[in-house]
Amino acid sequence: MVIVLRHDADARAVAAALQGLGLWTRPLDGGPGPVMVEVQPHSATVAVAAVLAVAGVAQVRTRRSPHPRVDALPNRYLLACAAGVEVEFGGPLPILIAGPCAAESEAQVEATATLVAAAGGRLLRGGAWKPRTSPYSFAGTGSTGLDWLAAAARRHRLGLVTEAVSELQIDAVAALADMIQVGSRNMQNFALLQAVGRTGKAVLLKRGRGATIEEWLMAGEHLLAHGATWVLFCERGVVGLDPHTRNQLDIAAVALLHHTRALPVAIDPSHGCGRRDLVVPLARAGVAAGATAVLVEVHPDPALAQSDGPQALTPPLLTELALALGLPAVEQRLVPKPHYTSRFKDFYQRSVEDRRRTLARHLDLTPETQAWLRTGGLPVEVADRMTENVIGTFGLPLSVALNFRVNGRDHLVPMVVEEPSIVAAASNAARMVRATGGFRGDATASVMTAQVQFDHVADVEHAGVRLRERRAEIQQLANDSIPRMVARGCGCVDVDVRVLDVEAGLLVVHLYVDVGDAMGANVVDTVAEHVAPVVQSWVGGDIGLRILSNLPLRRIVHVECDVGAEFLGGERLADGVARASRFAEVDPFRAATHNKGILNGIDAVAVALGQDWRAIEAGAHAYAGLGSDYGPLSTWTRTATGLHGTMELPLAIGTVGGSTQANPGVRAAMELVCIDGARQLATVMAAAGLATNLAALRALAGEGIQQGHMRLHARKGAVQPAVVVGSGLASVDAAIAGVASAPEDGRNHKGAARDGAA
Ligand code: MEV
Repeated sequence: MVIVLRHDADARAVAAALQGLGLWTRPLDGGPGPVMVEVQPHSATVAVAAVLAVAGVAQVRTRRSPHPRVDALPNRYLLACAAGVEVEFGGPLPILIAGPCAAESEAQVEATATLVAAAGGRLLRGGAWKPRTSPYSFAGTGSTGLDWLAAAARRHRLGLVTEAVSELQIDAVAALADMIQVGSRNMQNFALLQAVGRTGKAVLLKRGRGATIEEWLMAGEHLLAHGATWVLFCERGVVGLDPHTRNQLDIAAVALLHHTRALPVAIDPSHGCGRRDLVVPLARAGVAAGATAVLVEVHPDPALAQSDGPQALTPPLLTELALALGLPAVEQRLVPKPHYTSRFKDFYQRSVEDRRRTLARHLDLTPETQAWLRTGGLPVEVADRMTENVIGTFGLPLSVALNFRVNGRDHLVPMVVEEPSIVAAASNAARMVRATGGFRGDATASVMTAQVQFDHVADVEHAGVRLRERRAEIQQLANDSIPRMVARGCGCVDVDVRVLDVEAGLLVVHLYVDVGDAMGANVVDTVAEHVAPVVQSWVGGDIGLRILSNLPLRRIVHVECDVGAEFLGGERLADGVARASRFAEVDPFRAATHNKGILNGIDAVAVALGQDWRAIEAGAHAYAGLGSDYGPLSTWTRTATGLHGTMELPLAIGTVGGSTQANPGVRAAMELVCIDGARQLATVMAAAGLATNLAALRALAGEGIQQGHMRLHARKGAVQPAVVVGSGLASVDAAIAGVASAPEDGRNHKGAARDGAA
């Protein structure tokens, strides 16, 4: 960058002001004409506008970049892999790419892929052809090794990245790899770069061990100029002075590419240091500096490795790395543990530490969850990648509601909520319901609704008829945009066309998309955006919104239960709950509060499990108002023995993607609740809502709220002086939790209400 000074500028003052911005300058020798200074290479990156704002600066001249395609490279990238998975680079979690230095045998590749998948790795790496310094060293197993790698990657639902060492192998590698690696030795092999670029694949470009950053970026420009879809720059160490490490890992280069250039960069600590004992700390350093991916070598038994054994991670070190990077080991989380239970005696009376120990022991919690329970929270670096303008993280209590049994299986229900009594209320109600078998329920397939709006469509009613005739074509179009989802048995299952305003020519196409275990917002928005222009070419008009509906009427969860009057506290309370339910059915003012009592439970679980609770609230209230007047989502009716409760609502939640993967607290909560997918989770969440609803109605139908208020206040006052004194809410809380209730069976329900451990 060259800065031209005004003719009347004080050059010293300008230089000092620029230095204040982080720009060190050197005067350019000039003859007549304006004074010019050149910005030195070690200066910070500063916006041109900020330089122009310095008094005395007349003009800023920036040189044309020699690598415009690299400069425009996005650091977020979705890699669709042949194994039917999508790997999103640039998201909140680093992507672990791991595998052997070389594919040595089918068994070694299979064992390594198993380790990589279990550790939460997303791509398998491994060399089929190995460029070696010595002609006598093991040079790989060639195309046979490539086949082993591709088959293992597919079996373990991993992407595959492998190196093309010369133009001879490019076709074979491009046919099987999801990403092609250009190795360090080949970084400036321009013929190879061009040939790899022409495959149109994503490329992992290792930095040459003697290459400057500018040379590395220019190699990336070669790839992009010849057609590569994306380049991930991989720092793997440069020539250093000291023999203790094989190379000198250039962390500054990672920070520079990430922070000043916003480029996608990976770190390869295995080659960076050449010794396994330093790989984990260097990987952490790379991620802290901004690496979006970590590439490591691992071997089931490094002592037997035919190449690079000293730097290959052992299986336990790979697990340590995954934990250090905060990666989810998905399989471990969802498998039901043999001693899993939602019943713990006197849980509320124990210390927090004792509760954690109890859960760790009885539920056989993973080391990751145990570690997270001890420290809690969200690393601020992860938070910073989740959203914008992050300045910190924010704490709320994480609790577990006990006693839940849903469809014959126990579930501990994690809840994050600040309002006192909700957890106790849920546990208490779940204990009552458990006595008659627990909750029963089911959820429909996870079918989300996308809406595509068209305005000013001529003869809109006729256009609607024509579109209905082409529903199968629209469905196919939709599925074309999400081939990976379709490969997994999901995808667009139906299409609907609604004419909403004949005069305005307003027509809406609904796309119903089965999103599997995802919440699905991104999937359906992709589908809507893909379908819109084609449909427009058929019916004309103007494309409007292309977005999901938060009223997903084909994604409904139903839950019900029976409660014996004796467990509820007597016939009078059972009558009272049924009367309260009737009240909500005929009065929207009451129905709103009734539904709030349901969402007390559902929202608390939603926050703990990283779900979009705004979408849940929108869907629940819209469903409550559908058709006629706004009404209750649940109803309670008297039976010969007590009460029957039933509830139904749309619930768009997911167990894969989004913050489920990124937030370690969410991963811990997922392990606690122990569900095997989105439909089961929806059923458990609905059961939690029905439980808090029952507890609220029971309390309100009983002694009322005032006595409870006084007692809760007395109890909490001792430990929590800041509680809202005199608030009606606190008094309702007490009654709901059962703290104040005088049970008709004469037992002291205080303890039982807190954890339901009868
Ligand atoms: C308070 O958080 C919830 C209740 O108002 C629900 C209800 O009235 O049913 C107690």
